[in-house]
Amino acid sequence: MNSPFDFQNKNVLVVGGTSGINRGIAETFAKTGARVAVVSRSQEKVDDTIQSLKKCGAADAKGFAADVRQPEAIKNGIAELHKAWGDFAVVVSGAAGNFPALAMGMSPNGFRAVIEIDLLGTFHVMQAVYPFLQKPGASIINISAPQALIPMVGQSHVCAAKAGVDMITRSLCLEWGSEGVRINSIIPGPIDNTEGMKRLAPTEAMRAAVIKSVPLQRMGSTNDIANACLFLASDLASYITGAIIPVDGGWAQGGAGMMGAGLAEFFIHAK
Ligand code: NAP
Ligand code: COA
Repeated sequence: MNSPFDFQNKNVLVVGGTSGINRGIAETFAKTGARVAVVSRSQEKVDDTIQSLKKCGAADAKGFAADVRQPEAIKNGIAELHKAWGDFAVVVSGAAGNFPALAMGMSPNGFRAVIEIDLLGTFHVMQAVYPFLQKPGASIINISAPQALIPMVGQSHVCAAKAGVDMITRSLCLEWGSEGVRINSIIPGPIDNTEGMKRLAPTEAMRAAVIKSVPLQRMGSTNDIANACLFLASDLASYITGAIIPVDGGWAQGGAGMMGAGLAEFFIHAK
């Protein structure tokens, strides 16, 4: 039997795929023999990731530097990739920005920056890829966050943005399902050795509290998220669309609130 996780001759695009969780996803698809492309703001990070994707075994690897806040740049770059490779079987959209700040401790532009990257950026990617999706058969995965479900101190911008990302997922499931396009969100739990966790749990004490708050008593790895992406992109998931799937060791069932409590301690009670 052929492996359901054989993505040879398939085109995979990972937006925000040049570091952390998303780079792990891109490299995992590369190991299956797919053609993999990445996008992020830094040309240097794009070039470095392309080299790594090739080493991982990608049939081909490409990428371009663009900011997801710039719809034309995203549209043009994706159209160029399509010209070279043809339709996309898998699109992962995960570019995001985060900094912990109380609502009264950020400017309107600070709030806007995160909304524009996470929420508008997701919309820009969805609009840009739609004409170039394999229909039927494409699988889109938006990378959300626990903040979409659970309010946290110092995260009003991210909570608002990621809740919006999940509603894009659920709305487009209705609009694109009849063409055989599936779209789901993954909500990663706290993932070790990532920029996100460095920003949200910057001290050893906060890190230990986060681990204690996860029912499975560990942080996740980038592989945990990449494996869920392989599954969602495969035919094994052919009846799954519009789903918001936590891959988080059970964190969203209550423990994630602990990070909120940790942030409250850091920002409010420490005053
Ligand atoms: P990361 O390493 O900072 O990855 C973010 C990626 O997005 C980078 O490739 C970055 O590259 C790119 N990016 C950022 N702003 C961009 C923009 N305006 N336009 C285009 N690309 C942009 O972060 P991470 O911690 O691995 O997080 C990855 C995803 O997982 C995010 O969606 C995050 O919300 C989600 N998540 C993370 C965790 C966690 O524990 N880390 C938990 C839940 C959810 P450039 O700097 O080159 O642009
Ligand atoms: N507290 C309060 N406000 C902050 C802040 C902080 N810690 N960090 C940034 N801001 C504000 C800035 O002051 C600015 O507002 P202003 O113009 O009114 O001063 C606004 O956010 C935008 O900052 P800027 O640095 O110009 O934005 P950018 O577009 O270059 O970067 C960020 C976007 C701020 C999200 C940046 O952290 C980033 O690029 N992050 C990507 C990586 C990341 O966050 N990874 C984790 C993913 S979960």
